[in-house]
Amino acid sequence: MFYDLSASTWGPEENDAIRRTIQSGRFTMGEQVALFEREFAAYFGMKHGVMANSGSSANLIAVAALFFKKDRPLERGDEVIVPAISWSTTFHPLQQYGLKLRFVDVQLETLNLDVNKLERGLTPRTRAIVAVSILGNPAALDVIERFAREHDLYLIEDNCESMDAELNGRKTGTFGLLNTFSFFFSHHISTMEGGIVLTNDLELDHLMRSIRAHGWTRDLPAGSPLFQRHGDDHFEAYRFILPGYNVRPLELGGAIGREQLKKLPAMTAQRRRNLALFQNLFAGDERFILQRENGKSSCFSFTIILNPACHMERDRVFAALRNADIGFRMITGGCFLRHDAIRYFDYDVVDGGVPNADLAHDRGFFVGNCPQDLESQLVHLRHVLDRACQ
Ligand SMILES: Cc1ncc(COP(=O)(O)O)c(C=O)c1O
Repeated sequence: MFYDLSASTWGPEENDAIRRTIQSGRFTMGEQVALFEREFAAYFGMKHGVMANSGSSANLIAVAALFFKKDRPLERGDEVIVPAISWSTTFHPLQQYGLKLRFVDVQLETLNLDVNKLERGLTPRTRAIVAVSILGNPAALDVIERFAREHDLYLIEDNCESMDAELNGRKTGTFGLLNTFSFFFSHHISTMEGGIVLTNDLELDHLMRSIRAHGWTRDLPAGSPLFQRHGDDHFEAYRFILPGYNVRPLELGGAIGREQLKKLPAMTAQRRRNLALFQNLFAGDERFILQRENGKSSCFSFTIILNPACHMERDRVFAALRNADIGFRMITGGCFLRHDAIRYFDYDVVDGGVPNADLAHDRGFFVGNCPQDLESQLVHLRHVLDRACQ
């Protein structure tokens, strides 16, 4: 394909890491995962990292952990404020744990939660907010963090699309009590499948370690606040304290992640150079609504919404992109309220509608970014869109 949605970022270092891991004979979660968790958390200046087999699983164990906290656990029927655009598995664990979702529209320019509507999202049962930075662009995390503190809400940051982005000199994925990341192919770093939760809270860290692996105690250190160890090793070896899952990562993922993490700053810098070029090429053209950067985007991809005021036919634009061999797709998962899965949710919609999320769903798309020089692809994209939108 002339301009694909994504590209592999693996090189000889990742291949060597795979070979070393296979030669070690250790395939299940072990030392490499533990080292990666520590190194990844340190990169973000956070205390604890719990790796899982995907970003979706990271969201699942993060939400689950809040239900088993000793102090003020979440309860079924509690409410959580969420943006109308995100990936399905931002929302699914909330449904699975019996929470009621209050959807807030996004800002059309940033594609992130419209913080002017936060107050209206609040009810006496609101206990949490999930903040999502869409496609590398930081949400108004400073405002959301303040709001969460003022109203005593748990803040979960789903940062699966925005690793290494920054707001006011602070990395996204560090604002929440719990912060999730994805290492799926095409994300900022890739371990094939994989994800992690970062937190500074020791109890939540231990809860997630147990929930990640069968709900047992085996991965918890002596002196964990979660349980008292008995004398009998026979029973201690298979002691289940929580209703957990098995969402452990593979040792290979840890080994690959350590190599990818070393490359992250250079990869982000290249993504940002591509973003600067994209912004230059399209700036000031009112036919296309681009994502406005809030802070420093780590630019997962380039979003374009066809301005409804300019009456361009979406299908004509999509056909032109296909003919030009340019990959494109829906912005994240589009508006979640438009998906069939919503019928299983207990939810309501702040202000009764989400017009911006609907517009992004109907007239938006993204083309890929990756840590390579994309000048010829972006220049060609500009040319193709110009012709299609005459
Ligand atoms: C915002 C968001 N959350 C969660 C996920 C799930 O991550 P994974 O694909 O690693 O399960 C994604 C996937 O891209 C995502 O975009």
